Amino acid sequence: MAKIGNLVQEAAAFLQHTVVAIPTETVYGLAGNALDPMRVAEIFKVKSRPFFDPLIVHVASYTQLSALITDFPAPLKKLADAFWPGPLTLLLPRSARIPDLTCSGLPEAAFRMPAHPLVQELLDILDFPLAAPSANPFGYVSPTKAEHVQAQLGTLIPYILDGGPCRVGLESTIVGMVANKPTIFRLGGLSQEAIERIIGPVNVQLNQSSDPRAPGMLKSHYSPRKSILTGNLDLLLQRYADDNPVLLVFHEFRADFPRDRQLQLSLDGTDSSAAARLFDLLRQADDFPANRILAEFAPNTGLGKAINDRLRRASDNP
Ligand code: TXA
Ligand code: MG
Repeated sequence: MAKIGNLVQEAAAFLQHTVVAIPTETVYGLAGNALDPMRVAEIFKVKSRPFFDPLIVHVASYTQLSALITDFPAPLKKLADAFWPGPLTLLLPRSARIPDLTCSGLPEAAFRMPAHPLVQELLDILDFPLAAPSANPFGYVSPTKAEHVQAQLGTLIPYILDGGPCRVGLESTIVGMVANKPTIFRLGGLSQEAIERIIGPVNVQLNQSSDPRAPGMLKSHYSPRKSILTGNLDLLLQRYADDNPVLLVFHEFRADFPRDRQLQLSLDGTDSSAAARLFDLLRQADDFPANRILAEFAPNTGLGKAINDRLRRASDNP
């Protein structure tokens, strides 16, 4: 199994010749030198990820970023200034220093300045940026705790840098330019409303499973192993109440169903609490002695949109 520790120097030493798991404020990442095709290939292999699905490059600073891009469109720069470091990934024209494998040969690569203090320290002492997809096997729920990574990739990597539970809990929101218009490609830990407060209305293009720009948005992504149905719990219970389900309620427990078979997504009713707990609860529901998971949608505003997006992609009735 992987060693779990919180020593940035130890993680940095491994990163000279292999890949390790790192904490970020969104989800745990499986990190390697973004500029070394050998390390990037290792990431794809450990994750069983197809090469057509490009990786996000994590940078420490604008200085490091400037050598990796050829342009920084003004609306995206405004977003970076407002939200970096944070749960925002930007698609930017890449310089020749980014290997084709890192970005699947696309003219743009994905960049993010993460906010977790341990990964910031790590990036500061490395002399290369880190490519890091979420540290889960391809197609499964993203990890938000070191133990999630250990359970799934522990035999394949030497070290997990443990930064505690991820504060945000949803992957970063991805924004790029399409025909000069800022466009959201993946809803995530930064809400559309927060983005629009800075740069005005943006386009949203989420379902492009045939488009090479959107491989991470494959329809059945983020799936648990157990059957999961999402929607109105009244309707779902009419049909499945007797089929030994476990419920994922947004906040209010149901009075008409055993309390010990209900998992509460948001502790206080807010979208941020629900986001931080979503992937951990999907794993708990997956391990629960039940035949299926019935999940309720979040209110569809703020981070609720990204939560519902993940629930839909995880479910059997998208
Ligand atoms: O919060 C996050 O973004 C986490 C942490 C570890 O930073 N990372 C993450 O990576 O979620 P991953 O690989 O699971 O999802 C990244 C997605 C890809 O699936 C792909 O859809 C998109 O980012 N992407 C990456 N590079 C791209 C590019 N050049 N053009 C279009 N989409 C790209
Ligand atoms: Mg992922």
